[in-house]
This record gives sequence, C-alpha cells and structure tokens, in this order.
Amino acid sequence: MIRLENIDTYYGTSHVIQGLSLHVEAGAAVSILGRNGVGKTTTLRSIMGLTPPKAGKVFINGLPVRGWPPHRIAGLGVAYVPAERHIFPDLTVEENLKLAEARSDQPGAWTLERVYEYFPVLGERRRSGGTKLSGGEQQMLAIGRALMGNPSIMLLDEPSQGLSPILVAKVAQIVSELCKEHGITLLLVEQNFRIALAMAGRHYLMGTKSKIQGEVSSAEIIKDQELIKRTLAV
Ligand SMILES: Nc1ncnc2c1ncn2[C@@H]1O[C@H](COP(=O)(O)OP(=O)(O)OP(=O)(O)O)[C@@H](O)[C@H]1O
Ligand SMILES: [Mg+2]
Repeated sequence: MIRLENIDTYYGTSHVIQGLSLHVEAGAAVSILGRNGVGKTTTLRSIMGLTPPKAGKVFINGLPVRGWPPHRIAGLGVAYVPAERHIFPDLTVEENLKLAEARSDQPGAWTLERVYEYFPVLGERRRSGGTKLSGGEQQMLAIGRALMGNPSIMLLDEPSQGLSPILVAKVAQIVSELCKEHGITLLLVEQNFRIALAMAGRHYLMGTKSKIQGEVSSAEIIKDQELIKRTLAV
C-alpha cells in the first residue's frame, strides 16, 4: 500500500534521507522508531509530497506518486497528522472537524458523530476554541480531523509528543482500534517505543541519515528491549 524504494530527500544541499526503502502492507500498522533528527518527519513529508524526494520511487496503492503535489496524494486517501497538529486556533472543535469533512455517501464514511464516539471528549468540548484544548485533546482533534477526510492511509508524526503517559496509552488504544475497525493502513513515527508497541505490529529502527538498522516485530521488542534502547539511546 505504501512502498518507498531507495529514496533521497534534501533540504537545500543537506542530504537528509539517503537511500531509504520501506513498505507498509494494506491494513497493517507499522512504526518507524528513531531518535531526534534521524529523518522521521522528513520520511512522512517525502511520502506526502511536502518535501519531495529527488530520487527513488514512492508508491501509494501501486501508483508511482513521486513528484505529485501533496493535494493529489491526499486525494488518494492519505491523511497526514503532523506533530505540530495545526489546529485552527480561532475555530471551535466542531468547526475544525467540519472543515475537513469529505462529504461521502459511502457506507462507513466518517461523520462528526462517529468521531465523537471514538473521542467523547471532543463531543463534550465541541464548542471550545481549538487552542483552549489540552495537548491531548488537540492530538485527538488532529486525528479526528484526519478521519473526517475518510482516509485509507494515515501518517502519524509522534502522537505521544507532549502527552502524559496515561493519555498516550489511551490515544494509542483508540487509534489502533479505529484503524482495525475501519481497515486504515497506519504508518507512525515515534521516539517512544512503548507507544509504537501499542499501535503497530512491525517496526523499522531508523538511525542517522534515515539508515534502516533493523526491522522488528512487537514480540521481538518485548523480548529484547536492549536492542531498542541501543538504537534509540534512551
Ligand atoms: N526545513 C528544514 N531545513 C533544513 N534542514 C531541516 C529542515 N527540517 C529538518 N531538517 C534537518 O533534517 C534532519 C532530519 O529532520 P527530521 O525533522 O526529519 O527528523 P526527525 O527524525 O523527525 O526528528 P525529531 O524526532 O526531532 O522530530 C535533521 O538533521 C534536521 O535538522
Ligand atoms: Mg520529527
């Protein structure tokens, strides 16, 4: 469903992603684990076309999309939830959600009510301004807003950032549940391997300059946490 083949991405002359290859099967949940600055966000931006790779191949649903503008890639059903969340501060929760609504008659299309079912706190705070929300509520709103576009693929950048451990566990559980129920393919990037474990079944370990140092299952991480700690230096 997502396949990167040997991509190279730059910021100016800075060669940040060097020959990265990875894939995510349809309906799977996969994480990229790596410490600060290895290129996790840039990987998601490369897939989305926000920082297009200069070389290599990017496939979404088998289509070669490298060089496509971001809105066209989004049009394939790819939703990107950036770490900064980008909530509109002057709009209420409900207005933020409505703005992203992709009207669809398809059965199973996302509606406000459905989003509130998964995230009841958003329903309770539907009239609150976007920035009056706590960090956790803002994260839920950013995810809820992504869902309103009826995505088949979701790219999540460090959903644990700024959240308490309890809230992180809750968000992780809700997201992995709704992805399973709706058959959404999930690629998330994280530094926190406990969150990645809760949300994904397979994990790429990313080192400096986006070098993939290994690929492990959740079961392997649980068995050998030292391996992860060495990679992430946590
Ligand atoms: N807009 C930019 N211009 C120039 N260099 C950038 C830019 N954004 C990121 N970089 C550099 O590219 C490298 C990869 O950054 P990226 O944001 O992808 O890392 P990351 O793994 O997401 O890190 P973090 O965990 O801190 O979010 C870093 O060395 C970073 O300094
Ligand atoms: Mg990042």
